Amino acid sequence: MPARNVLGSLRLPGDKSISHRYAMLAAVAEGRSRFQNFSTGGDCASTLRCLEALGCAVKRDGGTVEIVGRPNGLDQPAQPLDCGNSGTTMRLLAGLLAGRGIDCELTGDQSLSRRPMDRVMAPLREMGAEITSTEGRPPLRIRPAARLKGIRYTSPLPSAQVKTAVLFAGLSAEGATEFTEPVRTRDHGELALRAFGAEVQRSRNTVSIEGGQVLHAIEAFIPGDISSAAFFLCAAALFPGSNLVMEGLGLNPTRAALLDVLTQLGARISVINLEEHHGELVGTVKVEHGALKSAKISGAMTARLIDELPVLAAIAPYTQDGIEIRDAQELRVKESDRIAAVAANLRAMGAAVEEYPGGLRVPGNQSLRGVELDSAGDHRIAMAFAIAALRAQGETKIHGADAAEISFPEFWTMLDSVCER
Ligand code: S3P
Repeated sequence: MPARNVLGSLRLPGDKSISHRYAMLAAVAEGRSRFQNFSTGGDCASTLRCLEALGCAVKRDGGTVEIVGRPNGLDQPAQPLDCGNSGTTMRLLAGLLAGRGIDCELTGDQSLSRRPMDRVMAPLREMGAEITSTEGRPPLRIRPAARLKGIRYTSPLPSAQVKTAVLFAGLSAEGATEFTEPVRTRDHGELALRAFGAEVQRSRNTVSIEGGQVLHAIEAFIPGDISSAAFFLCAAALFPGSNLVMEGLGLNPTRAALLDVLTQLGARISVINLEEHHGELVGTVKVEHGALKSAKISGAMTARLIDELPVLAAIAPYTQDGIEIRDAQELRVKESDRIAAVAANLRAMGAAVEEYPGGLRVPGNQSLRGVELDSAGDHRIAMAFAIAALRAQGETKIHGADAAEISFPEFWTMLDSVCER
């Protein structure tokens, strides 16, 4: 439904990437970990269910999650581990379990079953893991292997999931594991490992970890998810009278590039109350409207903004000169083909879009009309077009809008609470 303004203040549920990592490391750490503001999304619930199936005691009370670690060995799961819609669950668990003597199968829903897993299988096999799939897609079959060996791996892809999976496998490998990434991706895996007491070294784009390190339980507040905040930041940037404040937001520099792009576009953004929790930067962000001009996003910047690109593209018609996105081939293998889904929905709303194999160009100064759209079963597409709809003429109906539940179940109520209609 169209809006006139975005006003108010919000506290967002915990970051999805950090929640997955803390939960998995807690499962193999000594002691009981306790997390506050744990992600409320379906993806992290999938991770917790898998950890329970591996014999960990998991207690959940709203945003508080407690996990008792099993440093001396996880249980053999009786059933396949269902990762649901969550690529992060499957790829990171593959790394965590590969060297721990577990015999298991990792399965997922229809969308996850189409996603590439060879990217994580290749380095894990090089370490000695026994891991198979059907043509590089789920399900993944992991069998107990001889002790893994540390490797030096240069990744052809910018993927924090692959990096984290390899580092997690490195924990139970002999010797050092070294991972070099083509551009800097989110470093929550490295920070989480350090938070649990492991030593992790970084030099430029190479991170390394020594095998056999013992992890210790932690208590942590999980910063608000900036990829969820992205929808509200973009919404507020669209309306002249907007004023939105978000407290306790994760501002890790490898994740906060959206703030730079919005500032470059012309929005007025300020950050206060910066703090650090277990190496993760947290702060309060205030966003106000400014005339939105243009932006070109490519190279390393694309990798740092990967989950925020759909919403940026969705608001691009409302900028003066449009937004161009390049080097984003990875968007084609997310929960949906996000380049195709964004282009199809923008066109359905009446916008011109140029689509490339690895990106999009959306000209500015276009008006959108409210129509019926499809989320493609993808949480970020559903939410991105809810934001585009705020300034469209007429009513927009998004089929499959409940997909938002995967990362951000509170999205629709929070959106209602800050939109002045
Ligand atoms: C994630 C990394 C990104 C991102 C995904 C979460 C993570 O995927 O798109 O939503 O938690 O490591 P890739 O690392 O595959 O790009």
